[in-house]
Amino acid sequence: MAENSGLKLVDRDDDGIDRAFRADVLEGLRQNPKALPARWLYDDAGSQLFEDITKVPEYYPTRSEREILEARGAEFAASIGPGRAVVEFGSGSSVKTPLLLEAIDPAAYVPLDIAGDFLRAAAADLSAKFPGLPVYPVEADFMRRVELPEAVADMPKLGFFPGSTIGNMVPRTAVDLLRTMRETLGESSQLLIGMDLVKDRAVLEAAYDDAGGVTAEFNLNLARRINRELGGTIPVDSFSHEARWNDDFARIEMHLVAQTDLSFEVAGEGFTMGKGETIHTENSHKFKRRSANTLLLAGGWTPVQRWLDSGERFSVVLAEATIPRTAP
Ligand code: AVI
Repeated sequence: MAENSGLKLVDRDDDGIDRAFRADVLEGLRQNPKALPARWLYDDAGSQLFEDITKVPEYYPTRSEREILEARGAEFAASIGPGRAVVEFGSGSSVKTPLLLEAIDPAAYVPLDIAGDFLRAAAADLSAKFPGLPVYPVEADFMRRVELPEAVADMPKLGFFPGSTIGNMVPRTAVDLLRTMRETLGESSQLLIGMDLVKDRAVLEAAYDDAGGVTAEFNLNLARRINRELGGTIPVDSFSHEARWNDDFARIEMHLVAQTDLSFEVAGEGFTMGKGETIHTENSHKFKRRSANTLLLAGGWTPVQRWLDSGERFSVVLAEATIPRTAP
């Protein structure tokens, strides 16, 4: 089982198939409309494609957030103060982390990630950049409560969750995660979180459907992954990528759209789709000031400060693990 033991986070059957992946894919394809959890977009090829997305001209979130982290260091230092253990959720390659660590003079850095090899390599890189800073990588699924290393037990914590990854969750899941983060970090902790903003529909749709086709490849790679890992026969060339703005839920949705009537098998089970039918593969929720605040409050975090980039495309919010008692 995938426990927070640091030993075995992926549960495979005798054929080496990831049981959770197979169960999610079969369940999602049996649904009407078909929908798959976005976390399965990130196998090695998908993670590389996401890195490539962050560099395409249309995908502004990474650049906008970086601008904030670079420009507002002095304000972070004033609001956060020195001596905190920075706990990064889903640290990946930790590319934005040095900007924060340079600004706030922390006592320790604890990157959490499910991808162990990646995590240890990134932690080693950071240790080399910040020789005096203790770094304690923890291989864990941050969607569950994580036991932090004993060495940081008595330090005040700052959770760091950049990239607007919170937007990839529907509100119910996002609130669960925020509450779990609060349990992981403890009382009197703070959270610095990236939250992408609602903006012109054309800008959003272009960001998720770049002219170079990198996001299309990222989306189609999920179908390829299903074929590779689950013995699928999905005719990938008969699907196209679509990024559509859902105004009711303030989110960009990624879909794989069947270009013709078609059928395929996955793990021995047959599926048919009509022309125009889609597999919904990702949500990326966008926020306004109030919707961001409501989500954070629902998760047990009180927003205390908010920074925007110069184009006002993206926000970074500082929140505290306190519940305001000003209302019944
Ligand atoms: C990781 N996450 C915040 C990205 C986003 O913007 O929702 C994933 C992504 N999907 C398509 N492009 C980027």
